[in-house]
Amino acid sequence: MNEAITPLIIGNWKMNGKIKQLGEIVELDIILNDMNTDKCHVVICPPTTLLISAAQLNENSKIAFGGQDCHVEQSGAHTGDISAEMLKDAGAQYVIVGHSERRADCGESDEIVQGKVEAAFRADITPIICIGESENERKQGRALEVVLEQLDKSIPTDIKDIIVAYEPVWAIGTGLVPSINDINEMHNAIRVALIKRFGVNGEKTPILYGGSMKPNNAKEMLELNNVNGGLVGGASLKASDFIQIIEACQ
Ligand code: 13P
Repeated sequence: MNEAITPLIIGNWKMNGKIKQLGEIVELDIILNDMNTDKCHVVICPPTTLLISAAQLNENSKIAFGGQDCHVEQSGAHTGDISAEMLKDAGAQYVIVGHSERRADCGESDEIVQGKVEAAFRADITPIICIGESENERKQGRALEVVLEQLDKSIPTDIKDIIVAYEPVWAIGTGLVPSINDINEMHNAIRVALIKRFGVNGEKTPILYGGSMKPNNAKEMLELNNVNGGLVGGASLKASDFIQIIEACQ
């Protein structure tokens, strides 16, 4: 844990949750109300269909909200897409960009991801930029090279506030996690690259770990100096699980 960066625990609900699922946010909100959360920022990125309702549940909530993707443009003829400005209007303060599921499902390149980061800056919301190697790339010993290249190409030259999320593709939704040494090595390498490129800003950028982060493994990861929080999928869907990961920050 790096005292200079307030850790963030971010739930990515992916394509999960109908209106009933808002009950989990209500439950989490009640628990957080009674907790000292100075040591951790809590964010939930629900599906866009739930974003407005979630953000309006309690205007004094300690939970902030984010979108899961945005288009590079502000508005226009892009059926089915959502702009960063629309997310902001709906109550989002963050947006996930370049998640490996979108890179795979929608063919998003680093260049497209970079455009989405710029769109987030334009709308004044914070991008959570996802990077991570595939199982093959790790087996070939290319994990560091692949991740640092994605980092380099996905981030524009001029940055404002960004969050980086290291999510090894093979760890997402599988219950597999890298060894603590491998997580440490990767996060340290990302920190060095950020400082080299952005100086002091690179020192302050939160680097989150994502990929099968669970109540039983979060603490060990969050104790690493350059793990400044988590991007949590499955374990963010139930308040009772998610709160245990938030508690691991305390
Ligand atoms: P899981 O926590 O379900 O492995 O998902 C991680 C993830 O992809 C978060 O963006």
